[in-house]
Amino acid sequence: MNAIETTALEKRYDVKDGEPVHALRGVAFQVHAGEIYALLGPNGAGKTTLISVLTTLLMPTAGTATVAGCDVATQADEVRRRIGVTFQEIVVDADLTGRQVLDFHARLYGLSRAVRQERIATLGALVELTDALDRKAGTYSGGMKRRLELARGLLSAPQVLFLDEPTQGLDPQNRSSIWRHIRRLRNEQGITVLLTTHYMEEAEALADRVGIIDHGQLVVEGQPGELVRQMGADVVTLAGNGDVAGLLGAVRALDFVTRVTEHAADGLVRVQIGVDDGERRLAGLIGAAAAAGFHVTQVNVNRPSLGDVFLAYTGADLRDE
Ligand SMILES: Nc1ncnc2c1ncn2[C@@H]1O[C@H](COP(=O)(O)OP(=O)(O)O)[C@@H](O)[C@H]1O
Ligand SMILES: [Mg+2]
Repeated sequence: MNAIETTALEKRYDVKDGEPVHALRGVAFQVHAGEIYALLGPNGAGKTTLISVLTTLLMPTAGTATVAGCDVATQADEVRRRIGVTFQEIVVDADLTGRQVLDFHARLYGLSRAVRQERIATLGALVELTDALDRKAGTYSGGMKRRLELARGLLSAPQVLFLDEPTQGLDPQNRSSIWRHIRRLRNEQGITVLLTTHYMEEAEALADRVGIIDHGQLVVEGQPGELVRQMGADVVTLAGNGDVAGLLGAVRALDFVTRVTEHAADGLVRVQIGVDDGERRLAGLIGAAAAAGFHVTQVNVNRPSLGDVFLAYTGADLRDE
């Protein structure tokens, strides 16, 4: 069964005295039960909007979405009972202790005192906050606040957990600690996780599958390793000026080239060429460029990353803005 399923999902924001913003433009995807799925995309791509629609905070303008088998538009209460969500902006009352934050939230679900205490103890241990639960949240580090948020999202014992940019602004050490917790949750409790991120390492480290989202559309999805492999074993980047069309034609004709993309920025044209072996093919590629009338000023050979996949499909760098 699919934990999440959308078809032709659209969201338009009406803007006062302005053009409506078309934030989701026909998103169709599925997340399988027990899967960790990452939506990877730059700021403004529509990630938070998609999470908001799936968690029933926003109504879609068109299309359908089901979560845990329930329709977000017509069965919003059923959806809410089955999900947990943590949002990008952390809203923790600094004067409350971690335990109070969790208890306040647990009451919203009408859990009895005994169940609340038990869940808070279990989740506090899960996110390694047991010793800090009776301290004011205002004294927590960024990583601790995120872990508190994660515990809060889990209080309702959700089938599907939505995490909007769960490690935004954290240092690498705290980030990998959050990843560890998310993986454990899935492995031990079989929970389905949909997370959004603009960090490609996050998608690479965590996700069973990644969907790349840009301008409100999913442009490609697949297993991270698979997407990267499709780029070729190495990516050779030639930057320069001249006959770009000639260069593209020449390298596409070479049998060791897997894919070619080009982007122009700052007066330079960058051509990314996926090849079987970058070191070995470099001289040949530079020779082909010269013969085609393209003047190469910079050369790079890299192992491809999800960032290269993103660049190949969207023509934009996945910047951390
Ligand atoms: N309440 C809103 N009203 C109008 N436009 C919005 C609103 N929320 C988001 N947007 C716009 O919708 C697009 C997608 O935003 P968002 O879903 O927040 O993207 P992301 O989370 O990927 O950064 C952006 O162009 C953003 O400016
Ligand atoms: Mg967002």
